[in-house]
Parts: sequence; structure tokens; C-alpha cells
Amino acid sequence: MYDIFRCPKCHQPMSLPSCSCNYKAVYHKGVYQLTDDPYMVKDDSAEIKYIGYENIGENYSGDSLFKKITMDKKYMKVRDIIGDGILLDLACGDGLYTVPLIKSGVKVISMDISDKMLSLLYKRAETEEIDTSKLLVCRANALAVPLIDGCVDAVIANSVLHLISRPEIVIGEIYRVLKNKGKYIAFQEKPNDRYVNENGLTTEEKAENKKYYELLNYVHNRYFEILGNQYNIRVTRYSWNFDRDKICSKLFHDKKTYTISANRKIADSFQQLFLKRMSGKGFSDQSDVPQDIHQKVFHKVMDEFTDKFGQNAVNTMFTGYENNFEISVYTKLN
Ligand SMILES: C[S@@+](CC[C@H](N)C(=O)[O-])C[C@H]1O[C@@H](n2cnc3c(N)ncnc32)[C@H](O)[C@@H]1O
Repeated sequence: MYDIFRCPKCHQPMSLPSCSCNYKAVYHKGVYQLTDDPYMVKDDSAEIKYIGYENIGENYSGDSLFKKITMDKKYMKVRDIIGDGILLDLACGDGLYTVPLIKSGVKVISMDISDKMLSLLYKRAETEEIDTSKLLVCRANALAVPLIDGCVDAVIANSVLHLISRPEIVIGEIYRVLKNKGKYIAFQEKPNDRYVNENGLTTEEKAENKKYYELLNYVHNRYFEILGNQYNIRVTRYSWNFDRDKICSKLFHDKKTYTISANRKIADSFQQLFLKRMSGKGFSDQSDVPQDIHQKVFHKVMDEFTDKFGQNAVNTMFTGYENNFEISVYTKLN
């Protein structure tokens, strides 16, 4: 897998870590540094903008980093689709796909722009007790993937296209690095695509869910209202409505969709499901909110919240059944 890289300096094929042009990739804390690009580009003047998760880090997945992942049917299906081939997990984050897939025997190259997220991938690998010599982890920009053309059998780039102002460039890169018959394996794109449904819930559970959403909207809206009015900080979502299918249908030969059935019941409190992540600045909407401003605004909102809804409101439960999981597989044919 080390011999399919493209030198970030001269753009010729190279075998990690060195290129014949004298470039040598720095290897630091288990990560090959294959770009000098910033963690995040948000200036209005920049041609292409993106939100790397360097400032989000630990609170993105919270406790889940220290819990073993259930190797459910979803991972098994992805493993079967990839078979013996090499997978590129692009914008791999803290390894939600990389780690269980390596555990199930897949050969994976993992790339992300954020060093922090890549360090969390190692934490997840530790939790899962996988042999870290099986990890090949790189800091790289999904807008210019440091791999040669036609070299991997599959690519996953989950939940990143909405963070990039020109997601079609990333899809172009995915297509470029795939071999003939290679597969781009995609899931539901946006993180808040509703992954749960209320079928079969009691009237009380449904009423409590309604309350849960009222609380969530209150905290979210009030937090960003204060940030906007007092600090001129506004939510940036670059490609929330990006139509992946439209771009993929122009490039890829074929699309197949697999539905993985799920019916697991989820029940957790407002505190655990939302407040914990929001208070730790774990949402991409909060990526460029300075820590001191975040602290002030979050505390103010929570004071108002308690006055309005009472102290116990944080225990309001959300309940639902997981929706079926859709896996879309786009195949490249030269
Ligand atoms: C919502 S997380 C998804 C992580 C992982 N794919 C998953 O499914 O859990 C988005 C990830 O995209 C990364 N990212 C954002 N812009 C990027 C870019 N231009 N190149 C590489 N990674 C990027 C972020 O650092 C973050 O780790």
C-alpha cells in the first residue's frame, strides 16, 4: 500500500515516505504529514473553503471512542463489497469506519486534514485492540488526494462533502484514485439525516420527543442568536444541499443501493445526546467559535434554559428506532 502515493511536492509517484525528488514525508505520532494545508479555510476571499475538525476533536464522538463498536450488518456488508481490495477512508475522522473495517480484515489507508481527529483514531484503535501496525494514517486534504491515479479498490468519504465549498472536486478525486471497477461506497450524507423513526413508540414517548426537539431548538437557536448579535459569528454550512447523485451519475457507470435493516431502540437523555456535545464544542457549526466566547455564551444560554424549562429538563428523553441504513455503491468503469 506504501507504493501508490503521489508526491505532494513534484506530483510524481512515490513510495512512502520518500520521493526521488528528495521530498520526505514527516512521520509524527503515527501520521504521515502529506500536506501543509491549514486545518480549516473559512475566509470569504478563499476560492475553496472547508471545515477540518481540529477544534472539535474529542467532543465529536465523546464516550463512543472508549466503547467497542458493535460489528453490525452494516460493517459486514461494506467488508463484503471491498473484499481483498484496498480501501481509502477519506476524511476518516476518528476512525468510525477505518477501525472496525481493519478489525474485520480490510486493508485501509486513512486520511484526514485534522491531526486531532487522527490522534483520536489511534484511541479508537486502542479501544478495539487492533494491531496499530495495520494502520496507514495520513494528514492530507481531500481536495488533492496524495495517491496516484487508479490505485485503490474502494473509497469511503463519509459525512464530509457538506463541509467543503466545492464537494464536486472531492468526488473527482475519489473517481481519479479508483481503479477500473473500483467502488465509491457512500452512506446517508448529512450527519443529521434523521436516522431514527417513531414507529411503534407510545404516546408518552412521542410527546417527550416533541419536548426534546423544543429544548434542542431553543439551545441551538439562542446560542447562535447571541453569537451572531454580539460577536458577529454565524453558522457556516458550505454544501448542505449538495446533490451527490447528480455529480456521481455523470462520472460513474453504475449505482447499486443496499438496504441494511435495523430496528434497534435508542433511548437517551437531552444531556447525553445533545448538551454534552454542544457544551464541548463538538458540532461543526461551532468549529470557529473561540473557546472563551463559547464558554460565556453557552453558560448564558443554559442559565436562561434553566429559568425557562427548570433544572430537570436536561433529563428529557429521546426515544426512537434506528432507520434502515442505506449503502450506495457507485462503480467506475474506464
Ligand atoms: C463529520 S466528520 C466525519 C468523520 C468520519 N468520516 C466519520 O464518518 O465519522 C468530518 C471529517 O472531515 C474532515 N475534513 C474536513 N475537511 C477536510 C478536507 N478538506 N480534507 C480532509 N478531511 C477533511 C474533518 O477533519 C472531519 O474529521
